[in-house]
Amino acid sequence: MNDRFLRACRRQPVDCTPIWLMRQAGRFLPEYRQLRQQHPMLEMIKTPELAVEVTMQPLRRFDLDAAIIFADILPPVEAMGIQIEFVKGEGPAIGRPIRGMADVERLVLPAAEEIAPYTQEAIRIAARELADRVPLIGFSGAPFTLAAYLVEGGSSADYALAKRLMHQEPAAWHSLMEKLAQLVGTYLRAQVRAGAQALQMFDSWVGVLSPADYREFVLPYSRQALEMAQDSGAPVIHFTTGTTGMLETIREAGGDVIGVDWRVDLGAAWSRLGPEVGIQGNLDPLTLLAPLPKLRERAAEVLRQAAGRPGHIFNLGHGVLPDTPVDNVRALVDEVHQQSKRP
Ligand code: CP3
Repeated sequence: MNDRFLRACRRQPVDCTPIWLMRQAGRFLPEYRQLRQQHPMLEMIKTPELAVEVTMQPLRRFDLDAAIIFADILPPVEAMGIQIEFVKGEGPAIGRPIRGMADVERLVLPAAEEIAPYTQEAIRIAARELADRVPLIGFSGAPFTLAAYLVEGGSSADYALAKRLMHQEPAAWHSLMEKLAQLVGTYLRAQVRAGAQALQMFDSWVGVLSPADYREFVLPYSRQALEMAQDSGAPVIHFTTGTTGMLETIREAGGDVIGVDWRVDLGAAWSRLGPEVGIQGNLDPLTLLAPLPKLRERAAEVLRQAAGRPGHIFNLGHGVLPDTPVDNVRALVDEVHQQSKRP
């Protein structure tokens, strides 16, 4: 088994820097788009054989150091009694958004085996198929990013409704976050029992908050979910975007590895976070659309910032974009391995 990704998560020495890419299983791959033409998004996620197939697709093409299970952050909330759908070109939408205490009270706390059972099954199959190749990453949305979707009803530019609930009905907000922290922690642990060897918690939208609001309305719940996840013994990556102004506070919430985006130099981020934590990142996904010499130059810059410290996992600062050329992804993966070879 290629264990350089797991070793880096634990800040152990590696032969070269491990690399995987957020959204490596997805629309930039023609074989994904072809399968997707025949199946709606939720059907792909809820059919374990299809989810496993999509999980494997990028590994057939690229020398990646980890697989991530094909799923999405929203389906797990269905177990709480929320209806979701995927709207073409827009992403997930919530049937009846959460707008007050009465809505929060209706949310049920499901048992572990009821949370996205199809994804847990897909993990069982994929982990078996990957056993002698690379580790499998399980994931969940973070309490805040899930709450933001549940309150807004879908994606949003400013998350004004979520912020309003926070400030105008703090009891409802805290109660919602408490339930989501339980859901996320329980679900992440269940994925390790199913065979995932590492976990990532995505707090993709938390960068819309002020540090003070993060501390008061989010941090305790992220911490609870991360601690529950770490009980499983698997390393946990805590990923956020747009949080350059509060990286230290994000780290306080926890995680073995902190995911950082491209808005900060990786070296500067690491000095702020301290050597006791790993770092994942942080190439701008748009760089994958640049001419190869520029892509190579920027990848080398990320490696230079990491300076061979143990605990660096190369990744983008956010997911692969749909119009990314397949050959550029291959060039990046191979370049990172070659350039980072330890003597
Ligand atoms: O390869 C992987 O990383 C695993 C699969 C994965 C998907 N979504 C598949 C997907 C993962 C890890 C996610 C996480 C996810 N989903 C996040 C957190 C990470 C991030 O990107 O910030 C969020 C916020 C979502 C919610 C979501 N799902 C949105 C906003 C959208 C639409 C916009 C978009 O980027 O596509 C989705 C749809 C989605 N999730 C697709 C895929 C492959 C595209 C669906 C399609 O084929 O039409």
